Amino acid sequence: MSDCCDRTGYQTVFSDRFARRLARTYCRRGLDRTRRRLVFFLTDRGIQDASVLEIGGGVGEIQVELLSRGARHATNLEISRNYEAEAAALLKQSGMADRVTRRLVDIASTPDDVEPADVVVLHRVVCCYPDYERLLSAAASHAKRLLVFSHPPRNLLTRAILVCENSVHRLRGSDFRAFVHPPAAMIKTAEAQGMSVSYRRRGVSWHVVGLERLSPSI
Ligand SMILES: C[S@@+](CC[C@H](N)C(=O)[O-])C[C@H]1O[C@@H](n2cnc3c(N)ncnc32)[C@H](O)[C@@H]1O
Repeated sequence: MSDCCDRTGYQTVFSDRFARRLARTYCRRGLDRTRRRLVFFLTDRGIQDASVLEIGGGVGEIQVELLSRGARHATNLEISRNYEAEAAALLKQSGMADRVTRRLVDIASTPDDVEPADVVVLHRVVCCYPDYERLLSAAASHAKRLLVFSHPPRNLLTRAILVCENSVHRLRGSDFRAFVHPPAAMIKTAEAQGMSVSYRRRGVSWHVVGLERLSPSI
């Protein structure tokens, strides 16, 4: 898949309507608990002057928060094209447009197209991508210091929900599928890139895993 934006399932599921809802929720309520946990892990370890790479960052609200807490620059990678109008409005409103680069790139398919960053973020993304090993290997290998990601818990309930959700996608003729990848295997994949887990929080819908590079040398 050379052009990540050919994937119609992603364009349909992560539509401009989805983007508007995300932006509206953030503008009304700020970050939710899971996003606050991701931001907490990073700010607690230090993000002063850091470069941020967010994979599947949607409208970019986590980036705005990290930039307002001292990060220098953020790059957002997306597969869906439908966030751009809302993301631009959010950046204009926060006065941060010149500190964010937005790109349509699938880092798992073309990792060499993406520069490493001090910190790498994936919120609610691994569950939307079939090959977690390629995605998390690419994410971790691009993290000079910190990597944080969220994933749904893997239990009977979430697996049952997923079967139903994917049946709906199939019935609608969409090629998009959601996944509940094995948490231990995801962590092992990131650790194989020289990172070590130093933060874990288990919420009802989302678990958060924070990792630090063992020797920050890349
Ligand atoms: C559920 S949405 C989450 C968006 C945002 N992070 C949030 O929590 O509101 C998942 C997003 O990940 C993106 N995505 C999935 N795999 C990706 C990849 N390999 N590279 C870039 N974006 C990806 C999808 O296009 C989608 O916008």
